[in-house]
Amino acid sequence: MKVIVVKDNVEGGKEGYKLFADAKKNGATTFGLATGSTPITTYQEIIKSDLDFTDSISINLDEYVGLPEDSDQSYDYFMHENLFNAKPFKHSYLPNGRAADLEAEAKHYDQIIEDNPIDLQILGIGRNGHIGFNEPGTPADSTTHKVSLTQSTIDANARFFEHEEDVPRYAISMGLASIMKSKHILIEAYGEDKADAIKGMIEGPVTTDLPASVLQNHDNVTVIIDEAAANKLSNK
Ligand code: GLP
Repeated sequence: MKVIVVKDNVEGGKEGYKLFADAKKNGATTFGLATGSTPITTYQEIIKSDLDFTDSISINLDEYVGLPEDSDQSYDYFMHENLFNAKPFKHSYLPNGRAADLEAEAKHYDQIIEDNPIDLQILGIGRNGHIGFNEPGTPADSTTHKVSLTQSTIDANARFFEHEEDVPRYAISMGLASIMKSKHILIEAYGEDKADAIKGMIEGPVTTDLPASVLQNHDNVTVIIDEAAANKLSNK
């Protein structure tokens, strides 16, 4: 893993942007995208730039299950607000969390990933080390699947909802194996509440207890973290 320690998420966004710009310059056509507060500064740098994605494909990691179509909490809404309205792609895929048959939707999504190999995947990380919505215990060979969210993730995501009980209990997420197929993976993390997860991801054993640790088995991962998130690393 290549680790870049930055001052804060603004500087991190600039570093993240550079990877998108380089990937585009080198012919990347398919970008794996993430939600959450972490990638926002990278998206802001992309929006400020002259990068054009109208010939590119985007594939998002995950979506809540069961939110109404017009919900402003959906990841579909988030992506439009934070990136797509300003930088449209030729085609943007997100899992359909309203599909009646979620198993069929998961298979369909895996086919989309297979047909459009991801050149660069951006990731955030949950405090418990989840990536996408792959919670602790998710097998490394998992593909897209329905997920039961852990209480820790529900609590962490409650800040985006009016009431805790409004947070969906389920999601549909790319699996760890789907993420690992990406040619280049960029993972960003900011703030001290990510420090334990980052230490485990980089220096701990590869274990399903900390899903992001599987990234140690990928040969092209760039980690962008601020000093607070890097704080628990023994080798800073
Ligand atoms: C959610 C998303 C993840 C994201 C994580 C961390 O659970 N499914 O993709 O990485 O939250 O979010 P944040 O970046 O807001 O800390």
